[in-house]
Amino acid sequence: MLEILDVPDPAVGPGQELMRVEAGGLNFADLMTARGGYPGTPKPPLIAGREFCGIKESDGQRVMGYAQWAAFAERTVARTELLWPAPNGWSAEEGAAFPVNYFTAYFAYWKAGLIPSNPSNPPPRVLIHAVAGGVGTAAVQIGKLLGVEMYGTSSSEEKLARVKELGLQHGINYKQRDYEEAIHDLTQGEGVDAVFEMLGGEHTNKSVRCLRDFGRVIVYGSATGEKPLLDTRLLYAKGASVHGLWLTYLSANRELMSSAWRQLSAWTAQGHLRPVIGRVFPLEQAQEAYRLLAEGNNFGKVVLKIR
Ligand SMILES: NC(=O)c1ccc[n+]([C@@H]2O[C@H](COP(=O)([O-])OP(=O)(O)OC[C@H]3O[C@@H](n4cnc5c(N)ncnc54)[C@H](OP(=O)(O)O)[C@@H]3O)[C@@H](O)[C@H]2O)c1
Repeated sequence: MLEILDVPDPAVGPGQELMRVEAGGLNFADLMTARGGYPGTPKPPLIAGREFCGIKESDGQRVMGYAQWAAFAERTVARTELLWPAPNGWSAEEGAAFPVNYFTAYFAYWKAGLIPSNPSNPPPRVLIHAVAGGVGTAAVQIGKLLGVEMYGTSSSEEKLARVKELGLQHGINYKQRDYEEAIHDLTQGEGVDAVFEMLGGEHTNKSVRCLRDFGRVIVYGSATGEKPLLDTRLLYAKGASVHGLWLTYLSANRELMSSAWRQLSAWTAQGHLRPVIGRVFPLEQAQEAYRLLAEGNNFGKVVLKIR
């Protein structure tokens, strides 16, 4: 159950900053948390929200932050090393839409062996599931910078048309066409170098079948709610591999996060990355925001305006 309540201000611990939150980014993990199914979720009641944009009480700087909990509050505390300056000219909503999507998409390319980029001819091919979502749209912006040939799935022609404007080359409407067949046809039977797989169930095996030799499936979610099915025998013939990715875990690795931020902030400063925001809801309408994401009706990021 979601409820807006008055609670005491949080206590600031060592290595933390007190924040005035302006906006929070809604993530699939927040849905899973509300349903009680996210690993490591503290016992309720708890303050939801994993990322935000806001003002540091200590120096008035506007920053983007990543937290495990408690981002959807007027005031929160966050670990200093997980705060990054909000780029000039960005709104609080854009700042709140950055950390989870862009770090996750960046690490997906890194795990796929495509960062640092190694220009190749023909370019590497990547299949991005839920390409019109939060992580998906971030992956398209980064893939364009890396020179990747991108294939993306969505349930809607309208969403695919909008992601093509961001640089997606091949849209696959899975309601109309089986994506495994589409990849087979679009790549002349060769397959792709990597698949970003966040659906679970049978999609994990299907994604492996979309790979070409030595390809990699990066598994990072199970939006269908189904346990991922993986027949490891499928990996033998192609020398293929499956890699896990969990930002919650990686966020504790300072060196890795710093190196990702160095690249992401450089691209951002050059104007190449900008979060795609589908809808902004006032905090009072958080239930509607959660419903939109749960029903898969979002385009890009769903953001909650806190103040
Ligand atoms: N491992 C990590 O560190 C990490 C970090 C961030 C996100 N994730 C995972 O990445 C996935 C995407 O997260 P996100 O926050 O960016 O969400 P999102 O992609 O913005 O929204 C989910 C999208 O998934 C598609 N979808 C397909 N099957 C669905 C289903 N059964 N229910 C709902 N949506 C479905 C829908 O798009 P179409 O209708 O166009 O198909 C929907 O818009 C989630 O599985 C999330 O858990 C993992």
